[in-house]
Amino acid sequence: MQEAWQQDIINWMREGLLQGATLSGLRRKDNELPARVVVRPILLKSGSHYQFESHFAKKVTHRNVEAERAGEQLLDVLLGDYKQALLKTAEADVQILLNKKGRAAIRRSAPTGNVNAKAEDRQHNRQKQRVLNEGEAAPFLVELGIMTPDGRVKSQKQDKYRQINRFLEMVSDVMHALPQNRTVQIVDFGCGKSYLTFALYHLLKIVHGYDVNIVGLDLKADVISFCSDLSDKLGYEGLSFQVGDIAEYEETRRADMVVTLHACDTATDAALVKAIHWGASVIMSVPCCQHELFRQVRNDTLAPILSQGLLKERFAAIATDAARGSLLEVLGYKVQMLEFVDPEHTPKNLLIRAVKGENKERSRQKWEEYKRFKNFLQVSPAMERALAEKWPEKWTE
Ligand SMILES: C[S@@+](CC[C@H](N)C(=O)[O-])C[C@H]1O[C@@H](n2cnc3c(N)ncnc32)[C@H](O)[C@@H]1O
Repeated sequence: MQEAWQQDIINWMREGLLQGATLSGLRRKDNELPARVVVRPILLKSGSHYQFESHFAKKVTHRNVEAERAGEQLLDVLLGDYKQALLKTAEADVQILLNKKGRAAIRRSAPTGNVNAKAEDRQHNRQKQRVLNEGEAAPFLVELGIMTPDGRVKSQKQDKYRQINRFLEMVSDVMHALPQNRTVQIVDFGCGKSYLTFALYHLLKIVHGYDVNIVGLDLKADVISFCSDLSDKLGYEGLSFQVGDIAEYEETRRADMVVTLHACDTATDAALVKAIHWGASVIMSVPCCQHELFRQVRNDTLAPILSQGLLKERFAAIATDAARGSLLEVLGYKVQMLEFVDPEHTPKNLLIRAVKGENKERSRQKWEEYKRFKNFLQVSPAMERALAEKWPEKWTE
């Protein structure tokens, strides 16, 4: 027979009224148990859930439980292992203190959560919320020095935090194109210190429950060692890092998503070419310092642009990205050029987002369009050369 406070918890969670909970104060010293469990509502493809985040000494694990069963789960964990819980609803903060016999003292105080939230608004609100929110400490952001352990974004890291959130919004919009019923293979080329790689894992695996295998690749052994250690520390299974060159990376035959953010010059093309050979459904690419077309472009009509070094450099960068986008369209991808927030405020802020589709008639039209463009500029982009066998002129039917 459940006591009234226990039934309240079950009802709050079923109806989505519980805004968050923290269970703490272990009943017995046991290194196998998490020191605390943080519970928060999340919306998955399959409906409303609660996420149980367990903080062990050396790792943090996550488990998503349907809202319908989450109340019983919370009570099992609380009554089994902990002495106290703090629960937040729109009406009140509720503190539960359990004595040795499991009898509860309940204290209610004024709400510190979202007092305006109603159950029927919750789904809508969560969709409008950022993926990462101030006040909710994401372990990887704390470890990377962006948030404090209590979830405050450090003032000098605000730009990076905004960039990460923007990137996650852009991924959220296309993640429906990823396979839903098997492990999603992802490669992040030129991952560097991997803020965005960790963020991607957080979004797909922790928030949305995708089964993922993400590999971050970079030339620099020291950053790879740092990222591998951090992934181990966070207990992020399915997130690994390797030292290597994009052009030589042959360790997979398939990738569902390829990410390449700020990889220099034609390293971006090498990454795009791999993504295409692997049949990636989603490509997210922020190119960087493009020199290739700068050296090639020739056109008398464009002399006012091409005779000025600075203008020529900017024009060549735009033309390079236009060629990349156009070739992706020839291959059936739906392409969008989006503005990516760059924390260093450089002009390298264009993100190419491509989602795989197929329409051979459109591909042929795009190929004709592309050829007019490249002939006008008298260029031969690396990506076109590397994928010579893929173009419509080679199609037999
Ligand atoms: C500017 S950093 C970007 C890091 C991260 N992707 C981001 O956007 O925050 C570029 C990274 O790409 C790596 N890189 C450049 N060329 C590469 C190549 N050919 N193979 C692997 N990594 C490469 C560099 O070592 C560097 O860490």
